[in-house]
Amino acid sequence: MRGVKIIGTGSALPSRTVTNDDMAQMVDTSDEWISTRTGIRSRRWCAEGESQHTLARDAARRALAAAGIAPDEVGVCLVATFTASAATPSTACLLQRDLGLPEDTLCFDLNAACAGFVFALHTAASLLAAEGPAALRPYALVVGAEELSRVMDMTDRTTCVLFGDGAGAAVLRADAAWPALTATWGSRGNDEALFAPGVGARDDAGALRPSYLTMDGRAVFRFATDVLPRATAEVLERAGVAAADVDRFIFHQANKRIVDVAVRKLGVPAERCQGNIDHTGNTSAASVPLLLDELVRTGALGPGARVVLAGFGAGLTWAACVTELAAPLGGAAEAQDSYGESD
Ligand code: UT7
Repeated sequence: MRGVKIIGTGSALPSRTVTNDDMAQMVDTSDEWISTRTGIRSRRWCAEGESQHTLARDAARRALAAAGIAPDEVGVCLVATFTASAATPSTACLLQRDLGLPEDTLCFDLNAACAGFVFALHTAASLLAAEGPAALRPYALVVGAEELSRVMDMTDRTTCVLFGDGAGAAVLRADAAWPALTATWGSRGNDEALFAPGVGARDDAGALRPSYLTMDGRAVFRFATDVLPRATAEVLERAGVAAADVDRFIFHQANKRIVDVAVRKLGVPAERCQGNIDHTGNTSAASVPLLLDELVRTGALGPGARVVLAGFGAGLTWAACVTELAAPLGGAAEAQDSYGESD
């Protein structure tokens, strides 16, 4: 059995910034409503030439550069998403081509909506732990990438103000001397609370479903404020780690008020749970790795840090894990330049 640590992170945001005032030009809303109810001030949407696939590729390249490893050292490549640019080929397969990963790299996409990145991290860590070095090279590239602007009803103020596009990535390294990544997870089938279309999706009676994302915001809010603190407490207990020994809680960025409830229920300092939803909106599977990379890029986290990553969302799904960061987490010029408003 081999343990894992995160040794590189990267992210990519699309070029188009959409402010709350811009949203108020499109639907009956206001900066005041959006910022006080969600914490969002602006989000990024893909412009021409940008897509879930290009964001995933850019974030993955930056994570590999920050990890200081070559493409031919990667054994696993997973992409968490529910808005892949194509149903097939998977974005992970396209990354094999884009990045020049060896053909025997285990590449596939995984859909657990906003919990997807944590599901993917746990899956990649389990594969690295289960397979010895002879079967699997000891590095995994794990990406969360979404283009939610493609599946939103831009006339529905209850959803279109909430979501953004983006991608984040992390490189895991396996090492027999390191601790295992500890995780907890759950799934509860429900296609009413949060639904996003497949091609020509039909309901159980055979009727065509709406071609855009629909959500019962209050129901999801209740679910999230129950499951986020519960999964976090559960994974800490399973790992035998005290909350006080966690440097940062990296929670899915769906609504600042959801994080505030989790902070209260867990009794952890708010500054160790600070998010970035103000300038990203909810980017589903991308939100956890986007925030992780932002914290690394800005120097808030570095080698030796212990983090809890937790996501929740459509499915319904939820997952949390405890893991650590290790050097190199660096340093490449491209990675340093990649973050920020002018990305
Ligand atoms: O990624 C995981 C999945 N997503 C989530 O976790 C989201 C979870 N849910 C939420 O974050 C919140 O429920 C929302 C942000 C979606 C909504 O906030 P809320 O405080 O639960 O508002 P609400 O749905 O109870 O709506 C309050 C009022 C309603 O008007 P009435 O019925 O009180 O007259 C809405 O019609 O706010 C109205 N409203 C808006 N007003 C201005 C809803 N959307 C907007 C809007 N601008 N964009």
